[in-house]
Parts: sequence; structure tokens; C-alpha cells
Amino acid sequence: MTDRYAVLGNPVAHSKSPRIHTLFAIQTGQDMHYEAILAPLTGFAAVVGEFAAAAGRGANVTVPFKEEAFRLADRLTPRAQAAGAVNTLVFAENGILGDNTDGAGLVRDLTSNLGLALRGRRVLLLGAGGAARGVVGPLLEEKPASLVIANRTAERAQRLAEAFAGASGGGFAELAGRSFDLVINATSAGLVDAALPLPAGTFAGGCVAYEMMYGRITPFLVMAQEAGATIADGLGMLVEQAAEAFLLWRGIRPQTGPVLAQLRQE
Ligand code: ATR
Repeated sequence: MTDRYAVLGNPVAHSKSPRIHTLFAIQTGQDMHYEAILAPLTGFAAVVGEFAAAAGRGANVTVPFKEEAFRLADRLTPRAQAAGAVNTLVFAENGILGDNTDGAGLVRDLTSNLGLALRGRRVLLLGAGGAARGVVGPLLEEKPASLVIANRTAERAQRLAEAFAGASGGGFAELAGRSFDLVINATSAGLVDAALPLPAGTFAGGCVAYEMMYGRITPFLVMAQEAGATIADGLGMLVEQAAEAFLLWRGIRPQTGPVLAQLRQE
């Protein structure tokens, strides 16, 4: 029987994960099938159980189930433990393993695809929700000069920063007078076209501004571009986190470059 994989989310119809994993499977010659499954908001665990019982070997988890997947997993990788969220499940004989490949995907996109060395850079992470939490640990492992977390609700950023040695957190107003070499937007403000109240000077000369969302020019990207920053969206992160999950499931790391190029074309 062909091994089955899926992305579980709500909504999930527009997910690019089935396309990405199908391209990976063709490229590496793996006999597998990957689909998108809509899980009811109150029925995530049941859907996971049914899928695992029907030849499901693994799953990706997306909005809004990453914290629930964290609680559901029998075992967690250290990076999932640190993130407090799970985006990749492996259905093994001894139970469900939960991993989080989002942070590794972001770092790989920044360093490999965008050619940005993070060591010694001043990094600003905007947001303190699930998307931000998942990337703090992997960013710190790259040894930036500093990692500042700024959020609309300052206290949430402070609490997130306290969980990681080397990070500091606060509100947007506290950014006044500071400049950064890399600014990553992990807020969901772009979904509703909301601008972020970043002080002038946030973007240092030569700054890279990274929007985790993809497929739309958000007010954050417009602001960054007007400030002279080089901008990037999160499509590369999406492909890279998928490659990490594929590696975990199949033991083969697919080449991401051709798949990213193909998606940009589509
Ligand atoms: P996700 O899992 O996508 O991170 P979340 O946990 O709901 O979702 O977090 C959303 C993040 O976007 C939060 O950091 C939120 O700020 P608050 O903690 O103050 O709510 C941020 N956010 C959402 N809409 C925003 C807006 N219009 N302006 C600024 N920040 C916004």
C-alpha cells in the first residue's frame, strides 16, 4: 500500500504543501501520496487517529492546530519542545512523534536561499504568537549579535523572550533609536492589511526584511521597501520546512531550489 501523508488544517484548501511534497516525491522517486485534509475545529485528534489508522505515515499540521498537535504527540523532538508547537507528526509503531521544522525552515531559507549569514547580526522578530515562538530557538542557534522580540502586547514578547537565553522582548515603542540588520515579521497583521507601528530607523542600511506570510505584499513589506530594505516573503520558508519534514519521514533531503522556482512560476 502506498504510504499516505497529509496536511491537517482549517482552512486548508489553499495549502501549497500537497504540491510541494508531490514535487519532492517525484524528484526523489518516493512512492507516497500527500493530500490536504480539513479537520473540524473541535475534531483534530479524531482526524489524526483516523488518518494514522488508514495507512497514514505522517502529517503536517497548520493553523490552528499546532499547539493541539504538541499536546497530542507521545514524544517530542527537543526543537518541538522548545517551540511549544508541532508542525510535523510521524506515526510510528511506538506512538506519535511531534517535531517542529518551521524554525529550521526559516533559518535555511535565510542562510541558503537568501545567502544571509546571521552570526553577529542584529535581528528583530515581530510578533509573539505561535509563528514567532517556533523560530526563536533556531534563530538564536545562529549566534546573532542580538535578538529582540517586539509585539503589540509588550508583555507577551517579554514572556517569550524570558523562555530563551539571549533574547529580549518588549513593545514596538521600545524600538525607538535602535536599528536592525534583519527584521522578521511573524505577526498576522498582514492578513488584514494592518500596518505595524515601527519607529523610523528600525531598518538599518543593507537590512533584509522578511515576511513569514507569502503571496501578498503586506504593509510591512511596503514599509520596509520604502525604508530601503531588501524584502523577502515566506515561500522559501514554506518549502524548506517541508523539506525538513520530508527528510524526517523518508530519510532523504529533497532539493528545494527547483521546487521553489517551480512554485514561483506557478
Ligand atoms: P500565530 O500562530 O500566527 O502567531 P497568534 O498566536 O494569534 O497567531 O499571534 C498573532 C501575532 O500577530 C501576535 O503577536 C499578535 O499580537 P498580540 O500578541 O498583541 O495580539 C500579532 N498581531 C495580530 N494582528 C496584529 C496587528 N493588527 N498589529 C500588530 N500585531 C498584530
